[in-house]
Amino acid sequence: MGIAAEVARLKKERDAVILAHYYVPPETQALADHVGDSFYLARLARELDCSTIVLCGVSFMAESAKMLNPKRTVLLPEPTADCPMAHMVRKADIDAARAAYDDLAVVCYINSTAEIKAWSDVCVTSSNAVKVVRGLPQRNILFIPDMNLGRHVSLQVPEKHFILNHGYCPIHHEMSVAEVDELRRAHPDAEVIAHPECAEEMLGRADHIGSTKQMIDHVASSPAQEFIVLTVVGVRREMERVTEGSGKRFYFPRTTPICEDMVKVTPEKVLASLRDGIGEVPMPTGADAAASALERMLELAAR
Ligand code: 13P
Ligand code: SF4
Repeated sequence: MGIAAEVARLKKERDAVILAHYYVPPETQALADHVGDSFYLARLARELDCSTIVLCGVSFMAESAKMLNPKRTVLLPEPTADCPMAHMVRKADIDAARAAYDDLAVVCYINSTAEIKAWSDVCVTSSNAVKVVRGLPQRNILFIPDMNLGRHVSLQVPEKHFILNHGYCPIHHEMSVAEVDELRRAHPDAEVIAHPECAEEMLGRADHIGSTKQMIDHVASSPAQEFIVLTVVGVRREMERVTEGSGKRFYFPRTTPICEDMVKVTPEKVLASLRDGIGEVPMPTGADAAASALERMLELAAR
């Protein structure tokens, strides 16, 4: 039996649903029942009433699914798949900001450990951060861990005062400006679309900035035929799927942006996880406070 057929059989046996992020390998996305950005996966995880959720992504995604749906078994097929940015916050910096400002909200990008979420007032994802921050009563915002997303949000919410933390995604932050400028010269009619985790000079070159899902929706609706895409190359599968037959073309930097953690989640790992229960995610310590920050995000994003 091939992997897809065996996965389908085990899924039925275990009453499992497979969720995948756009950055996992295309063959893994093809096995999933739902593919989406971090916000979509978190929202969906809360609503599913299957026995098991297989989360093809990195650990903060699986932890969030577990906290939002505690009764379900959550499997992370590659238990070492982690997001380096998810750890880039020091508790001492949060304590210092809380001591310095009475009117402070600690706003935590979902790309963070459960422990860091538990220190925070509310979570955000790249697709809802502006809306959630605007909806907060506090004027001072400590935005953790991603300084690039934090800066991007601060520019759109100028009525609030932002304190940024020095965290970043190594893949987005370190994209080469020279390579992007080379692509712009080679494809002068292409629209530049970027994920807000990119560095400031890259976002300054972008015609459109959004989460992975927002970038995918944008290429489908834009009249442009060519796009320079500044995010992880895993989005190519869905971009090609939603623009099939249109002749639209997608260019990525020559040093191909790959999230090494996400690409560990291969179809073989999904199969082994479903078969042997590999990667069962325990309820994290501090789950109550972290889950409250996630629930607050879902509530403010839905308004
Ligand atoms: P999205 O929420 O846009 O899918 O981003 C997740 C992520 O990890 C980006 O690096
Ligand atoms: Fe983390 Fe960057 Fe990978 Fe996203 S692309 S999971 S932010 S390391």
